[in-house]
Amino acid sequence: MLKLVARIFIGVLSGVGVLAIATLVWLVSSGMSARRAPSALETWVGARVRSFAIPASDRQMHDPATSADPAEMRSAREQFTDHCAVCHAHDGSGQTDIGRRLSPRPPDMRTDLTQSLTDGEIFHIINDGVRFTGMPAWNHEARQTWALVGFIRHLPKVTKAELDDMRGIPAGTRSAKPAATPTSTAKTGRAAADRRAR
Ligand code: HEC
Repeated sequence: MLKLVARIFIGVLSGVGVLAIATLVWLVSSGMSARRAPSALETWVGARVRSFAIPASDRQMHDPATSADPAEMRSAREQFTDHCAVCHAHDGSGQTDIGRRLSPRPPDMRTDLTQSLTDGEIFHIINDGVRFTGMPAWNHEARQTWALVGFIRHLPKVTKAELDDMRGIPAGTRSAKPAATPTSTAKTGRAAADRRAR
């Protein structure tokens, strides 16, 4: 019995070793340059790992305020222009000087890639950022983050007038900076939901 356990242990260890060497060889041969967009396999693995790392309770979160209030949407457009458009572009396409040179690239948020994420997943990604990518964590109020989720949902049908309005918003309008000390999504999201429920 002990022999069998030892054999399994050695087997797993050699498997991990072979995988580590293969990864190293692949990294050295392909380099760490951000000029190259990640391969389909890297993108697939990255998306799976990210999805796996988002707690189910966060994935199920919903916007506590369901109305798309015009003032809130204007504020979200302001926020998006000031904090997000540099990488994601005003229209969410990711086609900016920086966006095109990040690896992984910011995805086109108008497509199913982003639109198929749950509201809670989008909230979590904005609030906590994504490690090993250019996506920062943000210190926005939960209500502001939900407004951004609403704006991202609106991106597939964003109008020219809205985009023109965004392009006219001067830089530095909003003050929130990437989170220095991350606040867990569950806390901020739930806190907002609780406030509404009271
Ligand atoms: C410095 C560049 C940068 C900035 C600024 C930035 N992002 Fe991102 N964002 C990225 C990158 C790169 C990814 C891709 C991450 C990945 O592959 O998991 C991303 C991914 C996302 C995603 C997930 C989309 C998907 O389908 O995978 C959302 C949602 C998002 N960003 C929202 C925002 C919002 C909202 C802001 C502003 C508050 C913002 N980002 C600011 C670079 C940025």
